[in-house]
Amino acid sequence: MKALKLILLFAIGILFFTNCTHKPHVGLLMDSLKPERWEKDMALIEEKINELGGTCEVAIADSDADRQYDQAIEMINNGVEVLIIVPVDLEKAGDIVRYARKNYVPVISYDRLVRNCNLDYYISTDNIAIGELQAEYLTKIKPAGKYGIIGGATSDYNAYLLNLGQMNILQPLIEKGDVDIVFNEFTNNWSLHEGYEITNNYLSGENEGIDAIIASNDNIASGVISALKEHNLAGKVLLAGQDADIEAIRNIVGGNQTITIYKPIESLAFAASDAAIKIAKGKAPSNMNITINNGKRLVPAILLPARVVHKQNIKMTVISEGYIEETDIK
Ligand code: GAL
Repeated sequence: MKALKLILLFAIGILFFTNCTHKPHVGLLMDSLKPERWEKDMALIEEKINELGGTCEVAIADSDADRQYDQAIEMINNGVEVLIIVPVDLEKAGDIVRYARKNYVPVISYDRLVRNCNLDYYISTDNIAIGELQAEYLTKIKPAGKYGIIGGATSDYNAYLLNLGQMNILQPLIEKGDVDIVFNEFTNNWSLHEGYEITNNYLSGENEGIDAIIASNDNIASGVISALKEHNLAGKVLLAGQDADIEAIRNIVGGNQTITIYKPIESLAFAASDAAIKIAKGKAPSNMNITINNGKRLVPAILLPARVVHKQNIKMTVISEGYIEETDIK
């Protein structure tokens, strides 16, 4: 009897000890490290997970959905307890979620939604609201005129949400007959090149000018500026972007871009890291205060707001919050 008690005490001790020393192992699957914002997301997530007592294993897919799948399978087979994923492809990443589920590994979709699968959690910015912010700002300056829209990658669900937001604001003005949409195209890869091509094609045709362009991110906006420059229109056409890239902030200061959108990267990264650690410890993640339909289920989510950055508030936003150094702009 005494021996049994001793064995029991020993077992409890071991259990207690392993629980105390248990370091949650989190897998972070990045799409790519471009544009520059993703480097910040990655560094912040790694830092926060370590700070919370976990370990973080990172894989970067370089925009290759099949590679991302292989990286995920390897991580799961090697025993990660939770996955945070920036999906390369909104549909294909569903296979990752399905494999993870079979192996009891919960998945957090980070900033981009994985569609049509039993995804566990989604942490992002409100992308419809971002599209609205872009269109609202430009239409306040020019409530009537010719507008061009260049969307994000069709493999990224954010592209559709942004377009929805942009059209929420533009549609009533189109119906009033004030706004004319001269182009509205998606891209394959959020690329500078595609921003350039779409704008240049329009400007090279027999068209009657353009008043404003909504580019779905700063990389695309950068290509738009190159095309505008070739046609002597840089600074004369309103231009919105997204991501608060250093280059975009410089373009805003220089007058070639009107606004960008500043996402709360730090809060996003911290929310995802915090949720991952809680989940790995068998606890429920906090602040999942909304559900988002991913086509298959209502996914518990956190959606954070983003802000407009224009010439007058650069110091009060991206600089004062340490996102960009003042010396980088000059
Ligand atoms: C989107 C994201 C943008 C931009 C883009 C290109 O999903 O919302 O902020 O970075 O990807 O990577």
